[in-house]
Amino acid sequence: MERIGTRKLRVMLVPLPLQGHLTPMLQLASVLHLRGFSVIVAHTEFNSPNPENHPDFTFIPLKDGVCSPSANLLDMISAINTNCKEPLEKCIVELQGQLSCIIYDSLLHFVDTVAHHLKLPTIFFRPSTAVYMQSYLSLLSLHGKMIIPLPESHLEEAVPELHPIIRFKDLPLSVLSKIPQVVIDFVKSFSDIKSSVAVIWNSVEILDDFSIHQQYQVPFFPIGPLHKMASSSSSMPTSLLQEDPGCIAWLDKQALKSVLYVSLGSLATLSSEALVETAMGIANSGQPFLWAIRPSSVAGSEWIECLPQGLRGVIQERGLIVKWAPQKEVLAHPAVGGFLSHCGWNSTLESLSQGVAMICMPFFGDQMINARFSVHVWEVGVEIGNMADRKSIEEAVRALMVDEQGKEMRCRAAEIKHKLHLSMVKGGSSCRALEDLVEFITSLSA
Ligand code: UDX
Repeated sequence: MERIGTRKLRVMLVPLPLQGHLTPMLQLASVLHLRGFSVIVAHTEFNSPNPENHPDFTFIPLKDGVCSPSANLLDMISAINTNCKEPLEKCIVELQGQLSCIIYDSLLHFVDTVAHHLKLPTIFFRPSTAVYMQSYLSLLSLHGKMIIPLPESHLEEAVPELHPIIRFKDLPLSVLSKIPQVVIDFVKSFSDIKSSVAVIWNSVEILDDFSIHQQYQVPFFPIGPLHKMASSSSSMPTSLLQEDPGCIAWLDKQALKSVLYVSLGSLATLSSEALVETAMGIANSGQPFLWAIRPSSVAGSEWIECLPQGLRGVIQERGLIVKWAPQKEVLAHPAVGGFLSHCGWNSTLESLSQGVAMICMPFFGDQMINARFSVHVWEVGVEIGNMADRKSIEEAVRALMVDEQGKEMRCRAAEIKHKLHLSMVKGGSSCRALEDLVEFITSLSA
């Protein structure tokens, strides 16, 4: 029961204003609202969610001083951590003890500082896997033991104490040169759960390994995939960019499982050469495709001006390029047979939840680890580097969409889809974790 007397329990959520972090936090807000909590979202003005899309939540903007998207994410996150401290404190004080707890994105450590000072419990929220978080602890340990920098010859070796498929080259930071102190401080700031009383993971028992909780000795709740757990509001719009709905009508005209969906998420960028190589590889495969290319995601271009006119003609014959797609709807469409993805964690979960196999083209952060798991543990993908030439891209598309290998991957992806479904229904791991989380938050107000 989430009420004390007749009062609904109220939680505050503080998201990081980047698509891959904001979306799962809003989904978490929706999950908690469905379980009877009253939800306040305290958010930056930069990349603000649109309150009109979420009439059930109360939104409180925090002055962040971030005037424009910075090319340097570390600078942007540091600015938010510094500038939002005072506004958040003021806002909590004004709420006069009405909050049960604050759930904050792990990169926003200022929230824990403010809440701790005001004696309010916090819960640490990670939108990615526990295995990925563990890789940062490994990096800190390697740095502490002065093992970094490592010679290039070690890149293919497995990282001690991590899953054996994770090599030094899959780590989120390069081990070839000394890691600057400012980066080490940043990693320490988000890999420490500080005074948080629990951790929520947008992850699932069957896909992840939570041994990191030998270090984080607090209760943890793997309640993913959140986009599915928030099912009754799965159409809840969370995109910062305008989705192009026209691609669904285009998909409706394509044959079953024939289309390759291509998207590299909300942050990765391509050089114009890489764009042309990818386009040539996909075009030469002969497979129909839907490609979401964000404006400004190709270096030196507003959008796709650098694609030669002739190539655009070929592309138009069997493909569609949009600026931003309704991705969850696309992945659920029966015409989609594969996903060329950067392997951001949301995209990976969205793909697995629909049983869609992948071509993995990881760029940074957790994407290399997610790609390794997709290819070598779950065996639902083929990997190509983000510098792949047209020939390897063409071969990968054929392997996934046409060859026997692709059929087998689709079967395994369908099995994972089923297992994910089981984890979310009564008795399943994510369902139980959510029940425990609700009870845990309730107990904080008792
Ligand atoms: C970033 C990191 O790259 C990622 O590795 C980390 O796990 C989270 O933060 P991002 O690039 O945003 O993620 O990728 P991802 O996690 O996959 O999130 C992208 C979101 O945008 C997904 O929910 C996807 O459905 C959505 N999207 C993407 C669209 O709705 N339309 C598109 O056209 C492309």
